[in-house]
Amino acid sequence: MGATPSPRERWEQVDTYIAELFVGHDPVLDGALTASRDAGLPPINVAPNQGKLLHLLAQAVGARRVLEVGTLAGYSTIWLARALPEDGRVVTLEIEPRHAEVARENVERAGLTHIVTIRVGRALDSLAELAAEGAGPFDFVFIDADKQSNVDYFEWALRLTRAGSLIVVDNVVRDGAVVDAASEDPAVLGTRRLNERMAAEPRVSVTEVQTVGIKGYDGFAVGLVQS
Ligand code: SAH
Ligand code: DHB
Ligand code: MG
Repeated sequence: MGATPSPRERWEQVDTYIAELFVGHDPVLDGALTASRDAGLPPINVAPNQGKLLHLLAQAVGARRVLEVGTLAGYSTIWLARALPEDGRVVTLEIEPRHAEVARENVERAGLTHIVTIRVGRALDSLAELAAEGAGPFDFVFIDADKQSNVDYFEWALRLTRAGSLIVVDNVVRDGAVVDAASEDPAVLGTRRLNERMAAEPRVSVTEVQTVGIKGYDGFAVGLVQS
């Protein structure tokens, strides 16, 4: 190997190493990312090793019904849908019609149209609709949309889950900005509010893990609904 890599280069090398060993190449998943890029969508999907983590966590809780807030091109959606039995369901919420359209094509190419429903609109509206329709309980919730609404998404997740459900939230560290109590960044404020809310919620046992890799320095929250 050549000159000593920067920390960021090293994180990327290690993510690639992990993905080569434990994820491999999958034409459907790789194709979903290519389609996303070709459509000009931002490259903010979960990394491959994170997608597999979501998949394993959904399997570990025996998930049959999954709720996702923030679809983008459906990359994490496909990972989650593949964790479910044939009669499983993923409901995923997306505000951008163009993102939803790319996701729909990706889900179709993945052969998962019978499992995945994409709802287009503001997630807060879709969540209220889902609750009014009596949807759920969901066994697994992945929150990964606009960070300023995270506390509201968590409230809905609580209403739409049961004891034993898992709630995962992406991007809770954001380069460490989360510890900046003076931050005025709406995403940081949203994540700090979420963290305080989750810490005060006796019904959910939560921890967070910092991550580095191809997406930089970030982290995720994992909460298990207790009652
Ligand atoms: N979970 C995806 C990445 C989601 S990126 C993956 O890992 O593959 C965040 C997505 O949330 C974007 O597509 C964005 O358009 C969507 N989003 C942002 N605000 C939203 C809102 N208020 N309601 C629903 N979706 C929203
Ligand atoms: C952004 C959003 C995400 O969900 C993510 O995982 C990374 C970045 C963003 O909006 O910049
Ligand atoms: Mg994210």
